[in-house]
Amino acid sequence: MKAIIGGTGVDRISGFSGERQEISTPYGLVELFVGTGKHASLVFLPRHGSSHSVPPHLINYRANITALKQVGVEELISMYAVGSVTDALRPGEVGTLSDFVDFSGGGRQHTFFTGEEHGVEHVGMDRVFDPDLTLALHEADPSLKNAGVYVCTNGPRLETPSEICMFKTLGFDVVGMTAATEVALARELGIKVASLAYSINWAAGVGPDEVTFIGSAEIAKLKDTMVSLCLKVLGA
Ligand code: HPA
Repeated sequence: MKAIIGGTGVDRISGFSGERQEISTPYGLVELFVGTGKHASLVFLPRHGSSHSVPPHLINYRANITALKQVGVEELISMYAVGSVTDALRPGEVGTLSDFVDFSGGGRQHTFFTGEEHGVEHVGMDRVFDPDLTLALHEADPSLKNAGVYVCTNGPRLETPSEICMFKTLGFDVVGMTAATEVALARELGIKVASLAYSINWAAGVGPDEVTFIGSAEIAKLKDTMVSLCLKVLGA
């Protein structure tokens, strides 16, 4: 099985025939959509719930990833709304992530390896984004950018200009609030991941004005582009 996780503005997939299911996991219930007909090998999971009701720091990431594992997911493409710190990815553009840095502060349930059910393991993150799946995305859409390094903050507040200045100095390209936690957990369970970032704003202090977001019509267009790319690459 293959999965797509959608973020802000990607709460539903048009043209995807899926059946809503509630999956019970040791970490809680998860709502997801299992494909039917020609989409039978695909699962869609709206990260924030289908009505975007859960903020990034309170998402039950372990339940979400466990639910994907329980329905047999081995490959995942996840999408993240980001702010642009450098020119690697500008507002309105879509690209793949090459690495992440976790600045979420340690307050999240960020690992399965707590010494209990899963014991203790130190899973390598040196090729955290699957090279083959990432390459397949670029081959399917040569206009895709390399969005570079994602820094994950805790949110839900946006950053101060000084925080973004620090991130830029440290070599980070895009900022968001979810990818590091989600991708690390998927890797801990052996799921291959490639990720698409779509920029919806210049990060604080980078653009000429206060943080302003691109319009919802533009976000909807990016969403359509990403969804059809995912469907193509996942062969669903
Ligand atoms: N900061 C953090 N997360 C985000 C941003 C941002 O500027 N834009 C979209 N997600």
